Amino acid sequence: MELKKKSYIETYGCQMNFSDSEIVASILEKQNYEPTTDIKAADLILLNTCSIRDNAEQRVRNRLNELHALKRKHPGLVIGLLGCMAERLKDKLLEEERHIDLIVGPDGYRQLPQLLEQVESGQKAINVLLSADETYADINPVRTGGSGITAFISIMRGCENFCAYCVVPYTRGKERSRNPQTIIKEASELFEQGFREVTLLGQNVNSYRWEENEMQVDFPALLEKVAEVNPLIRVRFATSHPKDISDKLLEVIATHENICKSIHLPIQSGSTRVLGMMKRGYTRDWYMDRIEAIKRIIPGCAITTDIIAGFCTETDDDHNETISAMREVEYDYAYMFKYSERPNTIAAKKYPDDVPEEVKSRRLDEIIALQQELSLKSNKLDIGKEFEVLAEGVSKRSDQQLFGRTSQNKVVVFARGNYNPGDYVKVKVVSCTAATLRGETTND
Ligand code: 5AD
Ligand code: SF4
Repeated sequence: MELKKKSYIETYGCQMNFSDSEIVASILEKQNYEPTTDIKAADLILLNTCSIRDNAEQRVRNRLNELHALKRKHPGLVIGLLGCMAERLKDKLLEEERHIDLIVGPDGYRQLPQLLEQVESGQKAINVLLSADETYADINPVRTGGSGITAFISIMRGCENFCAYCVVPYTRGKERSRNPQTIIKEASELFEQGFREVTLLGQNVNSYRWEENEMQVDFPALLEKVAEVNPLIRVRFATSHPKDISDKLLEVIATHENICKSIHLPIQSGSTRVLGMMKRGYTRDWYMDRIEAIKRIIPGCAITTDIIAGFCTETDDDHNETISAMREVEYDYAYMFKYSERPNTIAAKKYPDDVPEEVKSRRLDEIIALQQELSLKSNKLDIGKEFEVLAEGVSKRSDQQLFGRTSQNKVVVFARGNYNPGDYVKVKVVSCTAATLRGETTND
């Protein structure tokens, strides 16, 4: 029997990238590579990279310097770059980072076997072609990273929204949806393997659409079908775009116990003027109407968001509108960023990056401080209430404690008792911080 080689994949960026790394691991497994968690034992190291902000790329550059040292010790080691940064910089990376052997963009992973052969024959290898139809629908991801309880399922790829600040349409290409039958099959198999939660992933899940003969499946229909795989499998999804999140979708969420009551709806800015410049396709009023619909149709639904501080031309007044929007919605959680100009985006070509660094920082700090206050307020409202928690694993601090999540996606820590990861546990919240709930089990 041929000795297996060892591959080590390090993933940066979004959930989509983590999902892609599992697809890559599956392709590599067929090529006689088994995953290892010991980087020093690896014959092949792949970094699955992100380009969303400049600091995401800088982290990868720093990591490459460290890997250079490793390669000097193990001359046979193959180092490859996958994902968005590979796609954005293409062969420029081979010139700039001389110890890279392999560059593969998000739609090129099927070519990895041939590309690795090329590397073995002493050449550098690159595939950064974007595709109009690649969804890796038939590839069964190797669940490398997770707990065995929760998993990602990629339902669509690419993005055609062209928000002015964003590099993703250039790195991930055209929007395309995956055959729903393959999605449902994947969810069913995960359930049979003991998984109890799936997150359906896409850059803009609301525009999921599959048409075949008489069959038409949109996102609400897909979500319903996945929820019907089994009442004991929880379903989440990310990310929704505010411009096309429909009441129909909210009604499907409200009427299915196992579809989680948590919606991530990136606002980016509270100022209609800035939203226009960002080319987001909605106004503040439109966004607030969607928030009102969520609160009306799904009472108790958690709402989380993404916010960018200091976008081109943002004034103090615009920033204050973001602050007031946060107070109006009362987000449960937010991902908050300083604007970072990305080469070749609409904003980079058309607008000046004119908010000074210290003003960006001050505004971001204010946004973070407010969100801390809002998260704490939201968590305090949960004290005394009982939630059904899906136990995901043993707490890092003590093996006598489990952690899990509520339907609202909040982390709860509680005494283990006789429970195990994968169990649904009724937990009454007794205390909290801004980040975590602490609870006591009540169903025994
Ligand atoms: N600068 C800062 N933040 C950005 N995001 C996307 N592009 C940029 C950028 N150029 C943020 C948005 C998006 C999240 C994934 O990253 O908030 O929703
Ligand atoms: Fe994900 Fe966007 Fe980063 Fe690509 S650039 S890895 S799509 S967050």
